[in-house]
Amino acid sequence: MWKVVWAALLLQVPVCAQTVQSEDNHEVKDTRKLGHVSVIIVGGTGDLAKKYLWQGFFHLYANQVSSGYSFSFYGGGLSPKDKATPVLFEALKNVTCPLDLSVERCALVKEQFLKLAEYRQLVTLEDYQALGKQLTEHPKQEGVTEAGRLFYLSVPAFAYADVAEKINASCRPSDGTWLRVVLEKPFGHDFSSAQLLSAQLATSLKDEEMFRIDHYLGKQVVSKILPFRKENSKHLDPVWNKHHIERVEIVLKETLNAKGRIPFYDQYGVIRDVIQNHLTEVLTLLTMELPTNLSDSKEVLKNKLKIFSALEHLERHCAVVGQYESYNKEVQEELNKTKEHYSLTPTFAGVMVYIDIAQYEGMPIILTSGKMLDERLGYARILFKNDIFCVQSHNNVHCKPKQIIFYFGHGALQYPAILVSKNLFKPDLKDTEWKEVTEQNDLHVLGMPISDYYVLTPTVQREAYSELISQIFHGRKDSFISTENLLASWDFWTPLLHSLANAPSRLYPGGVDNGNMLDFKLLGREATFANDALVFITHDDMGGSGVESFQVMQGKYRSAEMVSAWSEELIVRLAAEIQAAAESAVREGGRFHLALSGGSTPLALFQRLAHYHYTFPWRDTHLWMVDERCVPLTEMDSNFRTVHDHLLQHVKVPYFNIHPMPVQINQRLCVEEDNGALLYERDISQLVNTSSFHFVLLGVGYDGHTASLFPSSKLDAHRESLVALTESPAKPHQRMSLTLKAINQAQKVGVLVMGKSKHELITQLSRVKDNINKWPITGIRPTSGRLVWYIDYDALLG
Ligand code: BG6
Repeated sequence: MWKVVWAALLLQVPVCAQTVQSEDNHEVKDTRKLGHVSVIIVGGTGDLAKKYLWQGFFHLYANQVSSGYSFSFYGGGLSPKDKATPVLFEALKNVTCPLDLSVERCALVKEQFLKLAEYRQLVTLEDYQALGKQLTEHPKQEGVTEAGRLFYLSVPAFAYADVAEKINASCRPSDGTWLRVVLEKPFGHDFSSAQLLSAQLATSLKDEEMFRIDHYLGKQVVSKILPFRKENSKHLDPVWNKHHIERVEIVLKETLNAKGRIPFYDQYGVIRDVIQNHLTEVLTLLTMELPTNLSDSKEVLKNKLKIFSALEHLERHCAVVGQYESYNKEVQEELNKTKEHYSLTPTFAGVMVYIDIAQYEGMPIILTSGKMLDERLGYARILFKNDIFCVQSHNNVHCKPKQIIFYFGHGALQYPAILVSKNLFKPDLKDTEWKEVTEQNDLHVLGMPISDYYVLTPTVQREAYSELISQIFHGRKDSFISTENLLASWDFWTPLLHSLANAPSRLYPGGVDNGNMLDFKLLGREATFANDALVFITHDDMGGSGVESFQVMQGKYRSAEMVSAWSEELIVRLAAEIQAAAESAVREGGRFHLALSGGSTPLALFQRLAHYHYTFPWRDTHLWMVDERCVPLTEMDSNFRTVHDHLLQHVKVPYFNIHPMPVQINQRLCVEEDNGALLYERDISQLVNTSSFHFVLLGVGYDGHTASLFPSSKLDAHRESLVALTESPAKPHQRMSLTLKAINQAQKVGVLVMGKSKHELITQLSRVKDNINKWPITGIRPTSGRLVWYIDYDALLG
């Protein structure tokens, strides 16, 4: 069969004229020497294969057929051969030719392509063994060497490990022949599942054999981002930074719903479906350091990785989420759920991202995507600051927005394009595969008439999958996701995803009716919807109490003052009281001494202080630690690290005013002879007037501990000191802590307790008598200062 195909092609292919002239064996052999490539799409009759993959492989075939390779194509699947073969051929018949092929040649190439394809049932190991045998024998029978085997796994992700194992066991080619295995997202659901999947795959495949595909990287505009940045570096280098860029927007708007894909979609939602992968990849391309060699995949991936590790940690408040109204009904129907079932999966999200690199510090990057929006459109926009104030000539080009738009496709502009505002610069065009669009029309792109832009577009439009399939064939890896980059991306997204797990979603009707409901704004580092919500779904709607009151209540707890409210309100109140204490201390003595605890409870407070208290006298504030775990300060476990990440790095406290506990001295941790506790005590005595902090923030643990003063910590032993080494029953055991003496000398002590899980403790503590060895928190009795309990309703009322 192969010989027939070959001869037919030679006769028709003009670029092979040389070979056609001499149809002797010698010439033919020469051209064939590159060898045979077997392509196997596992899941070859599935939707993706039908829509994109066969088309992509057909283009590969059409482009390579005269290059000296021969091919065979297998569509693999679970169905028996007689049932699936017609389905496969129906899909194959629908492929279209590359535009540069004449009608006659197209018909011929397509006919040959169909002849080279067959269906294989691939279920058992025996099926794969039989396939492996055929992959080896077929080229031998045809008298050609084998160049490579390309497996495309277009199957659900749960099947990856199993299929990879079978390929490894029975379809691995002999040395000298390449094996490439292509995987489609999802590559996990969060960091740990991605890590597990990567570990499982690594037992069967080498990293260089795996090609994790993200089809956005095959879109012509996306793959042009780096070359465009390089070609125009003389214009871009001076302005590609926080000083000139107002913000970056990376947007994928869709009009479709999730119908038909709910079993997948409901588990993933919009962030996992498109933001963690497609939009994040675009973000890295826009912000990464330009590689010296754009096709050096190692350098490209390494530079991307640097961006991943510089992305600022995402908090819950960095995102807004929504769900289109009919989504839940679709879920009930497709997943056979009852009318009481509510899905919390977001179908819309807007996320604010910041990069902690001097070049981009403080420059907002907005990633947003949603189903059921008003239009289908994908783009990345770099909006530059405009330093010209236009007094009256508003239509002058210099008064208009300055922006560069990487227009991925869809939308009003029917072609992919890069648009550069004419008031920026005229882009250089060195690439013959791109051209400038000069014809004018009255289209508007992101608020500006198209005539205000220089517009570049590819000379020939190509499908993303065709592009990537060609790169896989050539073994180029720069547009694929390495294991390291994949895990770095999940590492970045997972905390946000977890914090959104039960988050309320704004319901939106869909399409143009959404109006301005999904518009969101930046408030400090926070993203919030710009307009009031009409309807929210929350966990409470699903059986909780759903209390709407946000009032603050004042009372007494353990005969001390108590402030109670819902958690958000409580934090607002506590932050305001700390600022008031700071202002009064600075007014009176020029300095404010604040001692902070670690743990997770005060995080919301730190964030509130960092992002809302613009007039806080940070310059005159000294920050001390209430207690510390004996670990290096850079570790996530360290209390100082928490304060650093959530507060210090966002506010301007002079370096000299920051006082971490000296847990590490002489390269060892909390060794008595190193006198760390004494050193801290000396610092306090020297800097804090009468060693009396203005404000000490405490928490309380389930066992009644506070600071690092645990039950039976022999608290009496450090009656005279201000700082002591203590022991915790939990790891890491060794701690350094302010003593009861130091805390009780403070002018104000606030104990913050939040969450339902603390309700039992709060109930118990309300009844117990003072007993510092059993309940160290009961030892907090400021000698002349005030003690205030800040307890949220969850902890107070359960
Ligand atoms: C896919 C997502 O990866 O990308 C879909 O699973 C989404 O939900 C699609 O519709 C968008 O891709 P494109 O190329 O149409 O913008």
